Amino acid sequence: LSASQLNAAGHLMIGGCDSLDLAQQYGTPLVVYDVSQIRHQIRAFKRVFEANQVNYEVSYASKAFAAIAMYQVADQEGAHVDVVSGGEMYTALKAGFPLSHASFHGNNKSYDELVMAVKNNIGVIVVDNFYEIKLLNQVLTELDARVKVMLRITPGISAHTNKYIQTGQVDSKFGFDLESGQADRALEAVLASPRMTMIGLHAHIGSQIFELTGFEGVANKLVEVANHWQQRYDYQAQVINVGGGFGIRYTKDDQPLRPEEFVDAIIKAIKAAVASTALEMPAIWIEPGRSIVGPAGYNLYTVGSRKDLPGYRPFVTIDGGMGDNIRPALYQAEYETVLARDPQAPLAEHVRLAGKYCESGDILSQDQALPKTKPGDVLAMLDTGAYGYAMASNYNRNPRPAVVFAENGHSQLVIERESYEDLVHLDRPYTEAK
Ligand code: LLP
Repeated sequence: LSASQLNAAGHLMIGGCDSLDLAQQYGTPLVVYDVSQIRHQIRAFKRVFEANQVNYEVSYASKAFAAIAMYQVADQEGAHVDVVSGGEMYTALKAGFPLSHASFHGNNKSYDELVMAVKNNIGVIVVDNFYEIKLLNQVLTELDARVKVMLRITPGISAHTNKYIQTGQVDSKFGFDLESGQADRALEAVLASPRMTMIGLHAHIGSQIFELTGFEGVANKLVEVANHWQQRYDYQAQVINVGGGFGIRYTKDDQPLRPEEFVDAIIKAIKAAVASTALEMPAIWIEPGRSIVGPAGYNLYTVGSRKDLPGYRPFVTIDGGMGDNIRPALYQAEYETVLARDPQAPLAEHVRLAGKYCESGDILSQDQALPKTKPGDVLAMLDTGAYGYAMASNYNRNPRPAVVFAENGHSQLVIERESYEDLVHLDRPYTEAK
């Protein structure tokens, strides 16, 4: 947090809005995005490419936070998006986002999803497996259509991150393996298909990665494959897509490079690797999710009950929890939380920030230093913008929070708070079968 994020009253400001006013106006738990931070990050990525004079696309991985408003912002900033489901595609379409600027990912795309993608002029389908090649050929024949494809490669690189968010190791459910020749056979199948236009290759090694080596490794590996394909099949890749995964700072113990520094290193690695081949320099695509929306997001909560036990760290309970942010329970993820009315108030105690869900694991923070708090105080958890609301659930039949976009002192509701009526909307009474 910088001093510029405090107003005259000393309150935390988000997108030029007083966080206490936002909590008051929209209620808590509340997810707030500082939209200019989202724009800033997209532009920062673009600048790296422009400075290096390479053709590129910045493709926002919309799984990190998908909403009509978010697809609109991505489009306004000239970003592409990556979508992984019919639901994300549908949301993008509702936002008026041109699907021709979208890449469709997934390791089990359904027939219906492929039809939807092709009918709506999807930019590229990132083909993951042999079953998909067959299914896609069938869909293209039925629709008498063509589509651009990329092949997803498993680069055999293990990133040092939580095992649930690693994806690049050989033993992964995603993509075509290199060693066993799967990737070559996939290329042969795609080149043989009259309806698929092969534009390049893709890999994604995982998420919340702090080390350059993993990205340099994937860059080198993809160029190596592209080179092999040129020599063996006379196929020149137009695009090398290195995926996302650029780590962000969640706590003061995190010391990552800035996301754009990772991208700079990737560009240099690809340029250097290409220089030692006969390849023409391909376009470089990246798919950042977390680094675009993570730091821009804040979760506002209201403090309620408290439990003190001699010899134990106190529990301070807020009005949200694992239903709006599963990451601490699922990945032992850590966050920083501040008192919204005075983020720089002297710290008085270390507490456990507990959620309201009926589960002992529903602790958003195991050790958070805070000023003394009382019921009704608003807390702001920082950097919650990625995979927070996106993975929200209705566990315990708690309604999901509202989402607000704040920018230049204006705030706007972009996802309404769920109502109790919403919760039962799909329920149907059961009539006993006699
Ligand atoms: N591209 C592909 C193919 C991906 O699978 C992902 C993330 C991304 C790009 C974006 O990665 P990012 O830049 O956001 O790290 N739920 C987990 C993260 C799962 C990431 C899944 N794939 C979490 O909360 O940490």
